[in-house]
Amino acid sequence: MRDDQIEGIGYFVDLQPETEDFLATVLDGLSQQQKSIPPKFFYDAKGSKIFDQICEAPEYYVTRTEIALMNEIAGEINELVEPGSIVVEYGCGSSLKIRALLSALPDPAEYLAIDISKSHLIATVKEIAADYPKLRVGAICADFSDALNWPAEANAERDQRLAFFPGSTIGNQTPEEALQFLERVRHLVGDNGNLLIGVDLKKDTDVLNRAYNDAAGYTADFNLNLLRRIKDELGGELDISSFEHDAFYNEDLSRIEMHLVSRLEQSIGIGGQQFDLLKGESIHTENSYKYSIEEFIELAGTAGFNSLKTWTDADNYFSIHYMAAK
Ligand code: AVI
Repeated sequence: MRDDQIEGIGYFVDLQPETEDFLATVLDGLSQQQKSIPPKFFYDAKGSKIFDQICEAPEYYVTRTEIALMNEIAGEINELVEPGSIVVEYGCGSSLKIRALLSALPDPAEYLAIDISKSHLIATVKEIAADYPKLRVGAICADFSDALNWPAEANAERDQRLAFFPGSTIGNQTPEEALQFLERVRHLVGDNGNLLIGVDLKKDTDVLNRAYNDAAGYTADFNLNLLRRIKDELGGELDISSFEHDAFYNEDLSRIEMHLVSRLEQSIGIGGQQFDLLKGESIHTENSYKYSIEEFIELAGTAGFNSLKTWTDADNYFSIHYMAAK
């Protein structure tokens, strides 16, 4: 369905991404040997609010470090990116980041936001359109893990397309999925395209473990909120307090793993099915891969991007990469 009726917005394309069936995914995930639920289900309205709290937690350096770095390198970005570029943001998250980018860029021609959540997408593009009146703003409601072609409504004359994927959200995909995703980005931006991407780095294990086990308990709430969703939305028969949050850095696989661990031997009921858990057995809910700069440049290189410039903060916690299509 194509729709350009949203006030103040150049175009809105609704590809009606199939919102994956929560019940079917949970039943399938809990039937596996290692029980699991994919992290995309964290982000209902409550989960998104808790995520904002995580971003403010002193231990969670990711968001704060990336925003400070973006502001620090704004002048260099201004010189590197061609005037008149079309900015394509994958998953419109924190508007602070896109604002930092749009304000840094020399005369951007258009902003195209892609997000799976229609309400979140509309709210973001309306805000940006109101605050950047000279900018043409468009939106595609789509799952960015699906292949996308350049929308007919977007400016097709200019081929300076800049994909923006902040937040190290790429780390929530396996390296194989990340490669496929970057190949799709390469396809969308075309031969004259660029990529600006935030990638969290390998670092001291204690720093990582603290970041995903903040003292205020926001990350624990975020993880346990999945069980609340199962109870409220799927009528799940389970006691949330019989589970606890567990997050740790798995050095062999270079990733933080988040799990919900059963405090006791129990059976939970969902959708007419029973699932048995041993005491200490876990439901795996998220991975957050950490890269070295070289590893990420190699991965993006395989997907068809050349590294032009990489910035890091003073502690080498986080990296921002500016890349060009090969
Ligand atoms: C969205 N994403 C990059 C976050 C991360 O750090 O992997 C999600 C998150 N999970 C727990 N804390 C934050």
